[in-house]
Amino acid sequence: MTIVPQLNLSREALEPYWMPFTANRAFKASPRLMIAAKGMYYTTAEGRQVLDAMAGLWCVNAGHGQQRITDAIREQAGHLDYVSSFQMGHPIAFKAAERIAALTPAGMDHVFFVNSGSEAVDTALKIARAYHRMRGEGHRTRLIGRAKGYHGMGFGGLSVAGIGRHRRDFGPLLPDVAHLPHTYSREHQAFSRGQPDWGAHLADELEAIAQINDPSTIAAVIVEPVTGSGGVLPPPKGYLERLRAICDKYGILLIFDEVITGYGRLGTPFGSAALGVTPDIITCAKGMTNGAVPMGGVIASDKVYDAFMAGPEGAVELMHGYTYSGHPLACAAAIASIDVYEEQDIFANCARASARWEDQAHSLQGEPHVVDVRNIGLLAAIEIAPKPGEPGGRALAAGNICFEAGVLVRTAGDALVLSPPLIIADGEIDRIFETIRGAVRALA
Ligand SMILES: Cc1ncc(COP(=O)(O)O)c(C=O)c1O
Repeated sequence: MTIVPQLNLSREALEPYWMPFTANRAFKASPRLMIAAKGMYYTTAEGRQVLDAMAGLWCVNAGHGQQRITDAIREQAGHLDYVSSFQMGHPIAFKAAERIAALTPAGMDHVFFVNSGSEAVDTALKIARAYHRMRGEGHRTRLIGRAKGYHGMGFGGLSVAGIGRHRRDFGPLLPDVAHLPHTYSREHQAFSRGQPDWGAHLADELEAIAQINDPSTIAAVIVEPVTGSGGVLPPPKGYLERLRAICDKYGILLIFDEVITGYGRLGTPFGSAALGVTPDIITCAKGMTNGAVPMGGVIASDKVYDAFMAGPEGAVELMHGYTYSGHPLACAAAIASIDVYEEQDIFANCARASARWEDQAHSLQGEPHVVDVRNIGLLAAIEIAPKPGEPGGRALAAGNICFEAGVLVRTAGDALVLSPPLIIADGEIDRIFETIRGAVRALA
């Protein structure tokens, strides 16, 4: 049976590809295929234009098909396709690191290249432990994550993350891990605009965890500055500042996982600048290459980097790296992406657009089934009350209605989660929220 007539794809032809994070059998019975993308829009296999309100997967921050990035990748592939980064290198990687370091908070000047957000997180956790060991504090091995956190799919990231269904099937994870509580309370925060007023005190749980375990056993705390996949939870006002202060008090490294908040999503190059708190280590990926080539990075403060540079000159300081760390194509894409972000003033457009974004998102308050709206920068979540016994069902139905109406949104549990390309125009903001309004009104 031909299931995608336009592409002459049969049900059997879809079978060899084992798709990630997908209900494979349901998908293959009714596939949703995109065949092209430009700017804010996908073209589906049926030839429909669909507004991408997810920026791919929180990654295509400058919009799809940016010519400069495409050209840079093509040119680099024809020039130098690959060279190892172990004890050798190529100039583009050094240039890329220099350009990235120029975007980060002052004193965060060293970039370790990886290939994804998951690798960035596992690398950051290893760097944190090794940092303490370098300084004669090898007893600091404990890692602190947070409930509802998402840090990718490596065993390290899974261990510090806080979404139970992601861990369920995979057996024991890292030992020596504890979790902060998440920062969400519908009772105290529903329909907050931006950072909620309530919840800074939840950071004090770090003090409690430190006391239970002895602070000198803790290597690092890792949090997303804004919880993303866990449902877009902006940090309560004052919360990150308190985490920073407790980390400083006990010599604990603070890692911000900026895989989503990096590259302009909050209107500044990294979310830490918008939120006014500087960590010791930043992880990033996604917007780094505008989604065009896989790439991730760990950005270390001078303090962290310098601790590794104190030993014998001829020794490898960090026994870690990947075949494709600093891949020439990814580095070329990273540089071209920064060119595009800067020349088209894309982070500033995010800052400008986020006021209308906030107003339009909150105009959904009072619509049927909408029990909360959260937003910050160009991120938002619309929380939809589930039918009893059917968690996620209504949100999924709303997402499907939006797709049929030509707007692609993501669902996370009972929330519709939005993170459009940062080039979004006012009319597209209005269309996204009017489409969602129509969808929730149509829900049973
Ligand atoms: C905060 C955060 N960290 C890590 C990751 C993992 O990134 P990747 O899927 O590139 O491994 C993600 C992916 O969504 C993320 O949102």
